[in-house]
Amino acid sequence: MERFAKIALESLNSALKVPIQLTDLEIPPDPQLGDFALPCFKLAQSFQKSPNQVAQLLCSKIQDQVTDEILVSTQGPYLNFTVRPQKVLSSLLKDILLGPERGHYGSLPKNSRGKWVIEYGSPNVAKPLNIYHLRTTVLGASLDRVARYRGYEVSSINHLGDWGKQYGMLAVAFERYHKTVEDSLSLTDLVELYVKINSDAEKDPTIEIQAKQAFLDLEKEEPKITQIWKKCIEISLQGFRHSYQRLNIHFDYIWGESHYKNQLIPLIENLKTQGILVQSEGAWIVPLVDENNKELTPCILQKNDGGTLYATRDIAAALYRHKQFAFDRMTYVVGADQKLHFKQIFGVLKKMGVPWVKDCEHIPTGLYRFKDAKMSTRKGNFVTLEEVLALAKQKVITLMQDRGHTSPPAQSQSSFEEIAEKIAIGAIVFHDLHNDPARDVEFDIERVVDFEGETGPYLQYAHTRCLSILRKASTTSQSQESIEFSLSLISLLNSPSELQLIKTLGQFPLHLERTLRFSKASQLAHFLIEVTRSFGVFYRQCQVLGHSTQLTQARLMLVEATRRVLAQGLTLLGVPLPEWM
Ligand code: ARG
Repeated sequence: MERFAKIALESLNSALKVPIQLTDLEIPPDPQLGDFALPCFKLAQSFQKSPNQVAQLLCSKIQDQVTDEILVSTQGPYLNFTVRPQKVLSSLLKDILLGPERGHYGSLPKNSRGKWVIEYGSPNVAKPLNIYHLRTTVLGASLDRVARYRGYEVSSINHLGDWGKQYGMLAVAFERYHKTVEDSLSLTDLVELYVKINSDAEKDPTIEIQAKQAFLDLEKEEPKITQIWKKCIEISLQGFRHSYQRLNIHFDYIWGESHYKNQLIPLIENLKTQGILVQSEGAWIVPLVDENNKELTPCILQKNDGGTLYATRDIAAALYRHKQFAFDRMTYVVGADQKLHFKQIFGVLKKMGVPWVKDCEHIPTGLYRFKDAKMSTRKGNFVTLEEVLALAKQKVITLMQDRGHTSPPAQSQSSFEEIAEKIAIGAIVFHDLHNDPARDVEFDIERVVDFEGETGPYLQYAHTRCLSILRKASTTSQSQESIEFSLSLISLLNSPSELQLIKTLGQFPLHLERTLRFSKASQLAHFLIEVTRSFGVFYRQCQVLGHSTQLTQARLMLVEATRRVLAQGLTLLGVPLPEWM
């Protein structure tokens, strides 16, 4: 479909003064209206006509150019494009099964587009990952995968919160409670130490003073404190790695806040000389205004005791990343509670006159709300990610047992446990991603792991169903290898549900592109639901196996094409593919 959309786009752009992009085309909710559409609201002003008139005008202008392959029509303010059925059939299925990307339909050549830095995850160390981190982690990781697939040169960064006074506090705790770096401590032990020292600090004010001193020593790289700090990071990373592995998350760079520690003072000096930093009540701040010239909370970069802050490190990090990667786009996938923080960071960069600040964006993510009584009694931030994964896995195991699936089929390579893990991860990840990233998510475990409805397991199941049809076919000698050679049979696929399924599959590249444009994995997630729905209609209406060899063969191609798009799309989202369910 992308090819056809590009044809439409080209002819549209020849008729427009200001060019539009591929992602300005929308996919109509009702396929009857067309395969893609251009909403004309935004164009109305430059044409000085109503959106409906613009649609009609454009329609008459470009009709002749695209008429061979695409039908153009209007529906109110929308210009609709419908690809002619015979064209869809012959080219789309061929693209999916035999395209130049060889099994990676919709991908673009490696590093053929810009450089993109994507920051996600970024938890604070010395605390377990909590459910709140899931959102930024899985959204960031899916954008990362889709961007690479679509030809961007991506550098992914985990900006760990590993610097600040709290590590001074932990060092004091080590001293006070006689812990050493040789002790084998877990992440839970660290949390306990931290909670204990903080509650002791309420009674004993000297602890605060000691912690401040300890952090100053850490900044000076005093060996003993540095060792303790390193130990805390090591313990935390071990814990994080386990969860990242389960979620199939890999970062190119784990550069925590401490990575920039030696760049902070030179940065501050520089900003002082330039007059960007001004003194206010002993601290050094950057006064800011927002896009409407309204005063914004100033950004403090140095406290009155000379210490630096979270924001100071973010400015240093942004400058460093641009120096390293000369990126074309930098995305921070971080919770919505940090909106102001990023406004300030971008504001400071703007004041510094860096031209690339326009290429930086903060994608805010919402919170989790729990329906489950046990979980809801605690604040969202205190529910750990591992707890949620364990809960999901337990539910999946129960569901599978209820269905009598307690052991793998004879030919299976995966154990019951492995399958349950894949379904649980798929359920949690898909549930998160199919929601709008900016909105809060309601978490109801019953719905998340449901094998029916718009859930991860439902899509995983659709994929295994394709697999089992193909498996059955190959045992009856309709082998998968021969599928590629039967493209001459595609003209046999001419029922409406077959045509609709092919068209839907063909929209995969467009949805990938929209996912990136709006930084919303929900775009891809909803598309995959649509594929499954469309496949369901096809499967109900068109018998696949046991027909004349030729028709069966043609339909198997369609099953294989569906399987590939589902497999690719789910993998890009980070939803694993169980072999059976
Ligand atoms: N560590 C922070 C937290 O857990 C998030 C860091 C976000 N990234 C950044 N560049 N400020 O709240």
